Amino acid sequence: MAEKHFKYVILGGGVAAGYAAREFVKLGLNPGELAIISKESVAPYERPALSKGYLFPQGAARLPGFHVCVGSGGERLLPEWYAEKGIELMLGTEIVKADLASKTLTSAADVIIKYDILIIATGSTVIRLSDFGVQGADANNIFYLREIDDADKLVAAIHAKKDGKAVIVGGGYIGLELGAALKINNLDVTMVYPEPWCMPRLFTAGIAAFYEGYYANKGIKIIKGTVAVGFDSDANGDVTAVRLKDGRVLEADIVVVGVGGRPLITLFKGQVEEEKGGIKTDGFFKTSIPDVYAVGDVATFPLKLYNEQRRVEHVDHARKSAEQAVKAIKAAEEGKPIEEYDYLPYFYSRSFDLSWQFYGDNVGDTILFGDNDPTSAKPKFGTYWIKEGKVVGVFLESGSPEENKSIAKVAKLQPPVQDPEQLEKEGLAFASKI
Ligand code: FDA
Ligand code: NAD
Repeated sequence: MAEKHFKYVILGGGVAAGYAAREFVKLGLNPGELAIISKESVAPYERPALSKGYLFPQGAARLPGFHVCVGSGGERLLPEWYAEKGIELMLGTEIVKADLASKTLTSAADVIIKYDILIIATGSTVIRLSDFGVQGADANNIFYLREIDDADKLVAAIHAKKDGKAVIVGGGYIGLELGAALKINNLDVTMVYPEPWCMPRLFTAGIAAFYEGYYANKGIKIIKGTVAVGFDSDANGDVTAVRLKDGRVLEADIVVVGVGGRPLITLFKGQVEEEKGGIKTDGFFKTSIPDVYAVGDVATFPLKLYNEQRRVEHVDHARKSAEQAVKAIKAAEEGKPIEEYDYLPYFYSRSFDLSWQFYGDNVGDTILFGDNDPTSAKPKFGTYWIKEGKVVGVFLESGSPEENKSIAKVAKLQPPVQDPEQLEKEGLAFASKI
């Protein structure tokens, strides 16, 4: 059995891994000290591209174009970069066993990897309809999207089913981004989701009404308040129809499912403390086990601003938590203190010509401002969330970089609101003057 040993091992080769590697190099790394283990066959890349530019019919994004750290305006870390720095990229390597007590990982091919310090960065996996026993959910051309291999299969199907019918199951991030991407590829798109409006985890009814109207104007059909309960397929096993709980049957050549994600922590069950579905960490991303850190989607960390433990499944936190963990590892080695993680939640999405950003917390009362008429030539609107007389969250569609900066500032500073009616009238001007 082959055995390797590294001072630092990052388990998972996604967004967090790439940003962690850059931070290690920045703070001082000797060749041979760091390994990144990934079951994907490519070096870390900016995952958000998979549901956006990767699916464009023309000028599609392809690797090496979107390796980390281009997503945040940094230098692109090509596979050669890791080689130059003496970082071992163990690609196509799935870890099937992790023994935190003996600091040992075992790969599917029986390679043993020992470490001094481990960073868990395994991210999330998709929730599958077969997990809830939906009949026929294993038919061909039913797609999920998490990794680049999934995106390649979807692109091949889009080409094979040119001008065909697509059904999107789920009205969250994947649903909205993929609904748009498939429409741009000229498929006839229907979206289905159980809630009264899309993205209910973040959107208010007012925000969602804009996107639903905009999508409808693009020719996307939206069916709400029901779920897929089964799929029909032909003799080749290719999906032909989606059966809904309300009795409707939708013809389908392609189905894309986005019904949520689940952090990948099964390897560590029973070995490390968990909270809120993730691995519990402190403000330095240290877990309950010495020398083991957890970052990105898997970490449930103290969100200082709101004084509670949270898990965040977005790329900005993946990048920043990775950098924080590496800073903490290096500082501990040098016996220096560093500041605790102080994160301002930041989420965004893009589809068609639209682009929104959200900062802060979506709790409390809401005030919608601006033009949210989906038929306007240049719609621009937003929402403030107000809790205990203070603005705690801000959403903005079609903001300029300056405007987005100002809403981030508002969410961070939490200015008091004397008069909600005045705030509604002022709209974005309120944020711009903070
Ligand atoms: P990430 O999922 O990036 O990486 C985990 C890696 O670990 C993967 O390479 C995986 O193969 C590997 N791995 C897992 N288990 C393993 C094992 N046992 N052995 C070896 N390797 C293993 N966010 C946002 O803010 N804006 C956006 O626009 C988008 N868009 C977006 C699109 C799509 C299609 C997805 C799937 C996700 C987004 N996100 C997003 C979310 C964002 O991409 C996500 O939060 C980060 O990628 C999380 O980074 P991590 O490094 O934690 O996991
Ligand atoms: P999500 O949690 O955003 O949305 C899940 C949606 O699934 C719900 O809103 C609901 O409409 C729907 N749903 C649940 N059960 C259903 C059922 N039985 N039938 C039909 N619909 C059902 O999750 P997602 O969109 O699948 O995204 C997966 C992961 O990828 C998340 O971690 C997300 O944060 C991440 N992601 C983020 C972005 C972004 O930040 N822009 C983009 C893509 C993906």
